[in-house]
Amino acid sequence: MFSGIAGPLGKKRELLDEGFVRELHPQMFDRTWQWAGTLRQSNKNIGVDWTQVAVKLRDLLDNTRYQIENHVFNEDELTVRFHHQLVLIHAFPNGNGRHARLMADLLSTRLGGPRLTWGGASASLTPVGEIRDRYLVALRAADQGRMDGLIELARS
Ligand SMILES: Nc1ncnc2c1ncn2[C@@H]1O[C@H](COP(=O)(O)OP(=O)(O)O)[C@@H](O)[C@H]1O
Ligand SMILES: [Mg+2]
Repeated sequence: MFSGIAGPLGKKRELLDEGFVRELHPQMFDRTWQWAGTLRQSNKNIGVDWTQVAVKLRDLLDNTRYQIENHVFNEDELTVRFHHQLVLIHAFPNGNGRHARLMADLLSTRLGGPRLTWGGASASLTPVGEIRDRYLVALRAADQGRMDGLIELARS
């Protein structure tokens, strides 16, 4: 509907497009996994039932666009909620955390904010470590609807 409009709104729409979300995964991982970019086709201990992945992803993108246009949350909360919902969907067999953190970083930037830092610019969330533990604790709180810890971590 807005795809012909240039400027910030048009950019936000593009980023929150199913094609963009799916394409980003092979851009990150096509040298690692041949199947990169392919949606999950089996169940894991995290994630919606695999048959729901495409539907839930579309719902999330629609809801996030709505939240932006209607200023439902401030930028940080919106971005962190988006990240959490995206990892909960767990669209791909692997790489979901890294993919969803980069998506959130890009979204934050497109909304005019700085990139998220996820526990410290020099720290990495991927290896096992204290920040990784804090991240997982914050995600489990977010699973229960408490977003504060994850917002704080994303901006620390
Ligand atoms: N309780 C949870 N609630 C929501 N997301 C979670 C939870 N536990 C783990 N995750 C997410 O799942 C990711 C791990 O999934 P995975 O596909 O292996 O991603 P990656 O390979 O990038 O680490 C974690 O980085 C985190 O983002
Ligand atoms: Mg993994």
